[in-house]
Amino acid sequence: MKKILFVCLGNICRSPMAEGVMRRLVEEAGLEKEFVIDSAGTSGYHQGDLPDSRMRAHASQRGYNLTHHSRRVRTEDFYDFDLIIGMDDQNIADLQERAPSTEALRKIHRMTEYNTRIPADHVPDPYYGGSSGFEHVIDLLEDACSGLLEALTQDS
Ligand code: 4NP
Repeated sequence: MKKILFVCLGNICRSPMAEGVMRRLVEEAGLEKEFVIDSAGTSGYHQGDLPDSRMRAHASQRGYNLTHHSRRVRTEDFYDFDLIIGMDDQNIADLQERAPSTEALRKIHRMTEYNTRIPADHVPDPYYGGSSGFEHVIDLLEDACSGLLEALTQDS
C-alpha cells in the first residue's frame, strides 16, 4: 500500500489535478487497492472549495472529473502518507518547515522529479494566467504522474 499526498498552495488547481491524474492512472493499471491518493494546500485560503472552475473545465476536456474539496496540510499528514509531493519551491519550503521529524522530511518530494518527457523544475501556478497555463499544468502532471507510478511499481 502506497499513500501519496499531492500539495500546492491553494489546493484548488495543481494538486487536485495531480490527484485526478494519479487516480486515473492507478485505476487503469487496476491498482486502486494498492494506493491512497489525496491532496492538500499549504494555505487554507480556499478551505472547503471545489477546484477552480477553469481547472475543472480544462480537466473535463481530458475526461477528468475533479471532486476534491480544498483542505490545508495538517501535521498528521506527515505520519499518514508515504510520499508528500509539492509542486514548486515555495510548496517544498513550506512543507519542510512544517515537517515534524527527519523521517517526515524524507517523505517530501518534488512533482517534476518524476517527469520523463517534458523537462521542468516545477509545476507553475496557473491561477493568475490564461488557459495555456492550465493546459501546461495538465501536460506536466500527466507526464510526472506516469513517471511516479512507474517508479512505484517497478520494484514491487
Ligand atoms: P494552486 O493555485 O496552488 O495550484 O491551487 C492557486 C490557487 C489559489 C491561489 C494561488 C494559487 N490564491 O492565491 O488564492
